[in-house]
Amino acid sequence: MIIETTDLTKRYGHQTAVKDLCLKVEDGEIFGFLGPNGAGKTTTLLMLLGLTRPSAGAAAVCGLDPLRMAREVKRHVGYLPENVGFYGDMDAVQSLEYVADLNGIEVRAARKKIYELLELVGLQDHARKKTGAFSRGMKQRLGIAEVLMKDPKLLLLDEPTLGLDPEGAIQMIGLIEALNRSRRITVLLSSHNLSQVQRISHRVGIMIAGQLIAAGSVEDLARERFGLGDKVYTLEEVYLEYFQEA
Ligand SMILES: Nc1ncnc2c1ncn2[C@@H]1O[C@H](COP(=O)(O)OP(=O)(O)O)[C@@H](O)[C@H]1O
Ligand SMILES: [Mg+2]
Repeated sequence: MIIETTDLTKRYGHQTAVKDLCLKVEDGEIFGFLGPNGAGKTTTLLMLLGLTRPSAGAAAVCGLDPLRMAREVKRHVGYLPENVGFYGDMDAVQSLEYVADLNGIEVRAARKKIYELLELVGLQDHARKKTGAFSRGMKQRLGIAEVLMKDPKLLLLDEPTLGLDPEGAIQMIGLIEALNRSRRITVLLSSHNLSQVQRISHRVGIMIAGQLIAAGSVEDLARERFGLGDKVYTLEEVYLEYFQEA
């Protein structure tokens, strides 16, 4: 398991944002982390990164405790927050040079990699455009290039398709799938885009009001809910069924 949490809990005052979460993500898979707004998805990601302290329970990410080994965990784990920020007057190459520098990569050595990554995320024609003029989709893809600078084993992507037009969302989903296939990067992504999540996720988890109420492949969850039968259920049908039950 590349991610394993045991009764991971986060309380804010009297409110429990994440409750007794036991989440397992296998090495090499794409795991779709689903749930309505306020379900506790972002809070979970922050705990996995050691960016917020659990109230109870434990997490292991790449075999490491993110609280004690935050720096080591960050070396292996790329995190794309919901809103990626860039210095708007830097162009794409400068932004990535800046990140390379922060990661201790020598600028000249980083150059080749920067152009490779810009090509990989489809921004090669915008290498010298200021990021302030980037669309949301371009920013998201530059954010992916940024986290790939450190050759992560695991990507934590928080709503990577939110606010993208359909074409942008399809590009982003295609990119995530390609990274998983060709670089064997494990991906945990939170999303509301159920059809796109279904396309690429090996397994999904449904989080409602801080609790993981189901986890498995879409077929497994459908069978659990609707029993055996010939009908093939979509993730949307399965999700709504669990949601109404909760
Ligand atoms: N820093 C915080 N202080 C207080 N409450 C918070 C904080 N962050 C999140 N919450 C609350 O925790 C719950 C889970 O939020 P979040 O993890 O952002 O959910 P999601 O990402 O699934 O939309 C929400 O009710 C939210 O209001
Ligand atoms: Mg969130």
